[in-house]
Amino acid sequence: MDVITHDVVIIGAGLAGQMAALEASSGADAAIISKVHPLRSHSGAAQGGINAPFGNVAPDDWEKHAFDTVKGSDYLADQDSVEILCKSITSRIVEIDSFGAIFDRLPDGKLAQRPFGGGSFPRTCYAGDATGHELLNTLYEQIIKNNVKVYEEWLSTSLVVENNICRGALAINLKNGEIAYFRSKAVIVATGGSGRVYERTTSSHQGTGDGISMAYRAGAQVSDMEFVQFHPTTLIGTNILISEAARGEGGTLLNAKNERFMGKYAPKMMELAPRDIVVRSIQTEINEGRGIGGEGAEFVELDLRELGREKLLQKLPQVYKLAKDFANIDAAETCIPVQPAQHYTMGGIRTNNACYSSISGLFACGECACVSVHGANRLGGNSLAETLVFGKLAGASALEYVRKKEMPGIPKKVVEREEERIENLFKGSGGEPEAGIRKELQKVMWDKVGIFRNERELEDAMRTVKKLGERYAGVRVQDGSRVFNTELMQAVELCFLLDNAGLMAYGAQLRKESRGSHFRTDFPDRDDKNWLKHTIFTMKDGKPHARFEPVRITSFKPEARAY
Ligand code: FUM
Repeated sequence: MDVITHDVVIIGAGLAGQMAALEASSGADAAIISKVHPLRSHSGAAQGGINAPFGNVAPDDWEKHAFDTVKGSDYLADQDSVEILCKSITSRIVEIDSFGAIFDRLPDGKLAQRPFGGGSFPRTCYAGDATGHELLNTLYEQIIKNNVKVYEEWLSTSLVVENNICRGALAINLKNGEIAYFRSKAVIVATGGSGRVYERTTSSHQGTGDGISMAYRAGAQVSDMEFVQFHPTTLIGTNILISEAARGEGGTLLNAKNERFMGKYAPKMMELAPRDIVVRSIQTEINEGRGIGGEGAEFVELDLRELGREKLLQKLPQVYKLAKDFANIDAAETCIPVQPAQHYTMGGIRTNNACYSSISGLFACGECACVSVHGANRLGGNSLAETLVFGKLAGASALEYVRKKEMPGIPKKVVEREEERIENLFKGSGGEPEAGIRKELQKVMWDKVGIFRNERELEDAMRTVKKLGERYAGVRVQDGSRVFNTELMQAVELCFLLDNAGLMAYGAQLRKESRGSHFRTDFPDRDDKNWLKHTIFTMKDGKPHARFEPVRITSFKPEARAY
C-alpha cells in the first residue's frame, strides 16, 4: 500500500478546489486529488457569469445582492452566510482579474455586467459566455506557478475518519488501478454536484456526488438534499446548457402557439425570473399541451433572432456554436429548441461559515457543500461567486487547523478494508454490470423526484432507490483490467449516486411544502410556520437519520415571492 503524505489534501480540482488549494498552499503543503485533469473540471462548463455588486451598469451594493439572493432562495438561505458571499465577492473578482482573467469590459474599462435571473440589476460579470472556462484556466496557472501538486486521474473512494477526526482519504490511481492512502492533517472536499443522478442534466459525467457521499458515509452532516435545481434552457436531445445569459441579453421563450408565455407566470421579470419559476412555467406549458415536438421530446423555443448575428457572435459565441454543432441550428435565424434539465445541487455537506464540516479536519466548499447561501433555489451567477469566496475561506480554515495538528499514523486496517471493498467489485455475487442500475436510477429520479413531486411518486422513488442499492451490493465489474478501467470507476461512482439519490428522495418526501426548486403538487404552498428549516441528514446504522435546524435570518423577513 502506498502512503502519500501532505498537510492538506483537496479532493476536486474545479474552481472551489483550486481556490482552496491556492490559499492553503500559502502556508502548508497542499495537494489536489482529481479524477480528471483540472481543466476538465465541470466548473469549466459554467457559461453566463459571476455575480458581484460592482454597480458598474446601475447603482448596486452588497445588501441589494444579498436581498436578491435570499429572495431567490425562497428564504431558506442562511442570511449571515449570504452576507459573507455578497460582501466578499468583489474582492475575489478583483483578485482573479489581477491573476489575468479576461472579463468583458465597458468602454470606460470597468467590468461589464449583464442582467441575470432574479437579479434586480445587471450584476453578472462575464467572459463572453465561457466565464467558468476563463476563471478555471486563470486559476490553474496559479496552481502551476505556486507548485501545488496535482494528482490527476485519481479517483477518491472514501475518507479516513477515526473518532470523528479526518485523517486523509483513499484513492485509486486510475492509471494502474492501485489504491493509495493520502495521509493528511486536513481534507477539503470540493467535488462538485451530483447531476448525474438524473436522466436529463447539464452536468458533465463526473458530477456523481462523490464528496457528498464520502462525507455522509464518514459520519458528516449533509443538508437540504431535496433542493435540486433544474435549468430552464438546455438543448433538446443532449441537455447541454444554453446559458441564462441568452435571456440576459434579450432572448425570449415561445410556446407552440408562438406566445411569449412567461408574461403569465412572472409579469415583471418575464424570462429573467429565477430559475425555479421559469422551469415550472416551461414544464406547465409542456404538460398542458403547448409544448413543441412529440411525446417525450417536448420543448419550447428560445428566440435569439432579435439580437442579430453580430451581437450573438460577440456576446454568446458558445451558445451560437453549441446550437450549430449539436442541433444544426443557426440561432441568428432559427429558434433553439430547449427543455429543462437538472443543473445544480443546492444541498450538500453541511458547513459553517468558515467551511468546517461536522467532522474535525474535514472542510467542504463549492457545489458539494451546503453553507447555505443558495437555500431552496440558487440564482444564476451565484455559484461561481460561491466557489471563489468559500473556496478561499476553506483553504484559510484548513491552513489554520493544520498548524495546530500532528500528522496521523497509518490506519492499516482501514486501508485494507477499502482495498478489499474495491477488489470485491470485480467478484460481485449478483454478476450484474453497473450500467443498468445507473440507468434505472437516473430514470426514476427524473420521473419521480423531478420538477413536480408528490407523496406517492416520492415513496415509489425511495423504494426503487433502495432496491437498486440492494442490487448494487452484488454488482460485478466485467472488465478485469487495471489500467484506466472506466467500468470500475463508474461502479465506484454508482455507490455515490445511490447515496445522493436516496437523500434527495427522502428529503423531498419529508418536506411537506413547496419552496424554491422543491415543488410538491400535494402541498403547493410555502409553509414558513412549519418548514422554515433545514433538513439535516446523518448516517446511522447504514441509514439516513433526519433532523431539522432553523434558518438563520438576519435582515430579511420572509415575504411572498413575486417577480
Ligand atoms: O445559465 C448559465 O449560464 C448558468 C449559470 C449558473 O448556473 O450560474
